[in-house]
Amino acid sequence: MKVSYHGHSVVQVVTDSHTILIDPFISGNEACDLDANTAKADVILLTHGHNDHVGDTFEIAKRNDALVVAPNELAVYLGTKGLVTHPMHIGGAREFDFGKVKFTQAFHGSSYTEEDGTVIYGGMPAGILLTIDGKTIYHVGDTALFTDLKMYGEMHSIDLAFIPIGDNFTMGPEDALVAADWINAKISVPVHYNTFPVIDQDAKAWAEQVKTGEGRALNIGDVIEL
Ligand code: NI
Ligand code: MN
Repeated sequence: MKVSYHGHSVVQVVTDSHTILIDPFISGNEACDLDANTAKADVILLTHGHNDHVGDTFEIAKRNDALVVAPNELAVYLGTKGLVTHPMHIGGAREFDFGKVKFTQAFHGSSYTEEDGTVIYGGMPAGILLTIDGKTIYHVGDTALFTDLKMYGEMHSIDLAFIPIGDNFTMGPEDALVAADWINAKISVPVHYNTFPVIDQDAKAWAEQVKTGEGRALNIGDVIEL
């Protein structure tokens, strides 16, 4: 499969049979090389309800008839807006035709703000373990550092991890280095930085400091083949 990075926390996974988008925040994500009007997806996976993660889910899901897999409260809300959803929750795993999804803990918030300012409760935020053809990707989501990342690293053989380093809203670079050690992925990729001034970070410097496995800062559109 081909796994590519598109700025902020946007990850695309293309397999022989499916295109999967995780947290497709395209409009408002200036670095993103995808176009919300043309982006393809059979499946959209959402870690939590914040607008910089739900992003262009409505447009992309409707145009592609994509299945949206999200934490329950967020899935229910998206369902009321006409999207086809599959609700899950933290600790739960399910085999889909595109691969296996397991929702993990994240220490963060989860709400969606509608255009008129109405704030919708999004339930608990999560991370996502996605296993396809024996390879496991861990999209950590937005989170603080927490010790059960070590448990996830011990319980799962993780090939590729996407770890937030932006600070302010999530863990910062120092904590993210500890997370990379605990998650113990073969490749750790920094995400959730440089989208807004408040989360500006030096991703290449971070990647060079990763001690466990390989740290790799990706340019927009870069592909990792698993
Ligand atoms: Ni968030
Ligand atoms: Mn975020």
